[in-house]
Amino acid sequence: MNVTFGSEAMPDIDRITGRRRMRRNRRTDWSRRLIRENLLTVDDLIWPIFVIEGEGQRHKVPSMPGVERLSVDAAVAAAVHARELGIPLLALFPNTEPDKRDDDGSEALNEDNLICRACRAIKAAVPEVGLMTDVALDPYTSHGHDGLLREGEIINDETVSVLTRQAIVQADAGSDVVAPSDMMDGRIGAIRETLDASGHAQVQIIAYTAKYASAFYGPFRDAVGSGKMLSGDKKTYQMDPANTDESLREAELDIAEGADMIMVKPGLPYLDIIFRLKQTFGMPTVAYNTSGEYAMIEAAAANGWLDGERAMLESLIAFKRAGADSILTYFAPRAAALLKEGA
Ligand code: PBG
Repeated sequence: MNVTFGSEAMPDIDRITGRRRMRRNRRTDWSRRLIRENLLTVDDLIWPIFVIEGEGQRHKVPSMPGVERLSVDAAVAAAVHARELGIPLLALFPNTEPDKRDDDGSEALNEDNLICRACRAIKAAVPEVGLMTDVALDPYTSHGHDGLLREGEIINDETVSVLTRQAIVQADAGSDVVAPSDMMDGRIGAIRETLDASGHAQVQIIAYTAKYASAFYGPFRDAVGSGKMLSGDKKTYQMDPANTDESLREAELDIAEGADMIMVKPGLPYLDIIFRLKQTFGMPTVAYNTSGEYAMIEAAAANGWLDGERAMLESLIAFKRAGADSILTYFAPRAAALLKEGA
């Protein structure tokens, strides 16, 4: 029956909805909790850390408010904090001194390089926390590319052979997970073979499977100091943001070659790719919530344009909703602390 409200007749919503009232379940906090489909926990988080030379050094990254580059001793302290928070995995990225960068990124193979020293120190102090290291040459090359540059081209197979050696150097230093972020063809299989042949059969591989040539890496390149050095772009090896079927073919290869987990990067603008890869392959799937995504939220929050904490938690749950099992995010320590408080 229609009730009149002022001069308007009230619509008969029960008739329109067939008596289905979606808001009934949303009315109370307990009910919202009861029907919640996805859950973000500290177990989902991977915390990326930028490492620098020196002692007692903490340098702010201007384009990533709240993120600091840490000397090895400070990185160890961060690892202790990760253990307290219950964060399962740390991802280490080096900011290599400019004088150690050369055309071929040879510092990547130095078993006493910054990343190896950081691995050994963290493993010795905090063995319970997993350590992931990045396999790619860009923190070490004078041109900022992930591979070897010959006559204007990033050459594939020679790069892969250097990457296999880089992976061994990192595994020898105590890395639990090597994560090739270079996008060369065949590198997952080659690295798996070399790891197995050198006593590192237990070392896991997280493949940067669908890594796009993206503008969202800008602040990261500031943080590791490769941005100013980069000549040209990475479009001949990283994926075209217009493509989605191609990510399936990348995933097929990485899985066949021995990837233990696959990753999609960037994260938020590529939730469709996360969803599709998870649905198709059912692999442990990692989302990389990149530096640019982090910077956007931080910049807007600093201007008072949005509630940074809520935007952070909302983006992280979006990854879970899309099907990601874990999320590599610069928000990790803050999100973990909030989740501990019961956010
Ligand atoms: C480089 C690498 C990049 C990132 C992780 N590993 C940058 C790039 O490919 O240029 C980006 C991370 C981020 O933006 O947070 N191999």
